This record gives sequence, C-alpha cells and structure tokens, in this order.
Amino acid sequence: MTYRGRRREVTALRDLSLRVGAGEFVAVVGRSGCGKSTLLRLLSGLLPASAGEIRVAGQPIDGPPRQARCVFQDYAQSLLPWKTVAGNVRFGLRHAYAAPAGDHDALVAHYLDLVGLGHAADRYPWELSGGMQQRAAIARALAAGPRLLLMDEAFSGVDALSRATLQDVILRAWAEAGVTVLFVTHDIDEAVYLADRVVVLHPEGHGVLADVRTDLPRPREQVTTRELPDFLRHRRDLLNLVLD
Ligand SMILES: Nc1ncnc2c1ncn2[C@@H]1O[C@H](COP(=O)(O)OP(=O)(O)O)[C@@H](O)[C@H]1O
Ligand SMILES: [Mg+2]
Repeated sequence: MTYRGRRREVTALRDLSLRVGAGEFVAVVGRSGCGKSTLLRLLSGLLPASAGEIRVAGQPIDGPPRQARCVFQDYAQSLLPWKTVAGNVRFGLRHAYAAPAGDHDALVAHYLDLVGLGHAADRYPWELSGGMQQRAAIARALAAGPRLLLMDEAFSGVDALSRATLQDVILRAWAEAGVTVLFVTHDIDEAVYLADRVVVLHPEGHGVLADVRTDLPRPREQVTTRELPDFLRHRRDLLNLVLD
C-alpha cells in the first residue's frame, strides 16, 4: 500500500502476506506507524490497495465487504447523535449481511444486554461515557451479524476499567457468534489476553515480523489469565520483539 500525496509517496505496507481462518481471533500489534491501521482500512474496503490482492471469504474485495463490520477508536464520531442507543443499534441492521429475521426490537435488546447497555437503550450518545459509547458501537456492529469484525485500537480511548469490561464483552460476543475477529492494538497485554494468535508487523511496514500462536485456555478471566505462566511468557517474548 503506497499513499500518494501531491509531494511525496509513503509506502506503508509491502510484502505482506497474511491468512486468517474463519472464526479465528487474531490480534495485530506493532510500533506506531508500522501500518496497522492501513491494514485494517484495506480489509474494510475503505482504502483500495495499490498492489496485491485481498480476499474475504474467497472473494477479491472492491469496496466494503458486506459481511464485515468495523469498530474504530473514535467512538465519538461513530454513533449518530440524533438517534438513541437503541436507534443506533437498529440502524446497524439496515445493511446487515444476513438480514436478521424476526423481531428487530428483540435483537436490539439482545445486543444491548450483551454489551451491558440494556438500561441505556433510550439514552442519546452524548449522555453516555466514552466506554458506554464504545459499547453501543460494538452492539451496533454485532447486531448486523457480521462474519468478520475489524477493530482498530477500539478500546484505546477508554479508561482502564471500562477497557477490561469491553475486552470481556468482545470475548463473549466472539464466543457466541463465531465471528472472525481482527483486532489491532498497540497493547501487547490486550493482544495476548484476547487473541489465540498474535501477528507482529514489521516496524517499517515490511510484512509480518512474527506470527505467534498463544492459545491460552478459555474462557479468559481478567485476573487469573494474566497470571498464567504462558501469558507472562508470551507477553515477554512479544514485548521483546516489538521493542527491539
Ligand atoms: N492518509 C495517509 N497519507 C499518507 N501517509 C499515511 C496516511 N495514513 C498513514 N500514512 C503513513 O503510513 C504509515 C503507516 O500508518 P498507519 O497505518 O496509520 O500505522 P499504525 O496504525 O500502525 O500506527 C505511516 O508512515 C503513516 O505516516
Ligand atoms: Mg493506527
């Protein structure tokens, strides 16, 4: 992927080859500027690749894949301010991949409960904390029944406790829906806690530096998982790779 500006070109990613299986939970980590967001934008179809090929479910993409949903860091801009929380989630059903059958109200309620926002259905985005807004954005993405969930630093802007809650929300949703997750984060601990596989991008965008299977036992738990010897080992090895 080369960004072409008027004055100069920046090649953000080159020689990148990555294959993610259906239902996997893969974290993508790496130094700031290594191309994580570029990779996710390419996968989301928002940015056309300057070379190479991207396929989702075997199909080369040309535009946003219908079966994908994205959650980005900037939750403040992702919800429609004139709609309630429930209204925002219902809106997510409009262009759903697998048009959900039956009662949309029940579906909206289900996903709001899943993210712990059942009590806030009738509130407006600006009445919510950052963590709650991000939960609403996640509920909206999940309600559409995506097969692929792309998350870019989705929890980076929220406080530590909300962040832990959101991590567990996404794990529950992943276990329930069997969706494939690509989760970009600069936080190694978060990557090891959530994923079964951690992909480290080369700091200058030269493809994949490491691809590590972690496979910690599930369900994960905020305190005990983070104390597992395997958690600490993967955390140490990955930190050494990224900080090197
Ligand atoms: N719209 C853009 N135009 C030009 N260069 C860009 C653009 N977006 C990102 N870049 C450059 O591409 C590289 C990768 O950026 P990015 O994908 O945002 O990295 P990360 O998300 O890992 O921090 C960086 O050198 C960045 O400056
Ligand atoms: Mg980024």
